[in-house]
Amino acid sequence: MAGNITFTMIKPEAFQNGHTGKILDMILNKGFRISALRILKLSQEQAGKFYEVHKERPFYSDLVGFMSSGIILAAILEKENAVDEYRKLIGATNPANADEGTIRKAFGQSIQMNAVHGSDSDENANIEASFFFTVLERC
Ligand code: CMP
Repeated sequence: MAGNITFTMIKPEAFQNGHTGKILDMILNKGFRISALRILKLSQEQAGKFYEVHKERPFYSDLVGFMSSGIILAAILEKENAVDEYRKLIGATNPANADEGTIRKAFGQSIQMNAVHGSDSDENANIEASFFFTVLERC
């Protein structure tokens, strides 16, 4: 059965460029409820841990450097079938391949600076949400 939470980050370039309000608006307009939210700057070590699954990939160190380069917004989103529904809303990893109307099409600049992260499975949504938020920080 599909879960009802997903985890997202608004990445440093999208935050820095002032797209946060418009991205949150798109999320809320699609019927997601925000059950936890924080703004923070990741250390290199924290970004490396979060993206550990990509450790062997050639883009890993650039990705870690980028994700620890500026302020991000992290949030837990709730909706029925949240992981799939949110992946539809954000669009393809590479903004060049993202459909019209998606967040990455509107705000992504490149495969690395692709505006937002979204969990790729229910299992990872729970792992990622717990990476950033304790149970007491979720409403
Ligand atoms: P995200 O959804 O945050 O999950 C992993 C990230 O790795 C992905 O978005 C991209 O920003 C990044 N990524 C994936 N593939 C590549 C690639 N080929 N080159 C650079 N970055 C990539």
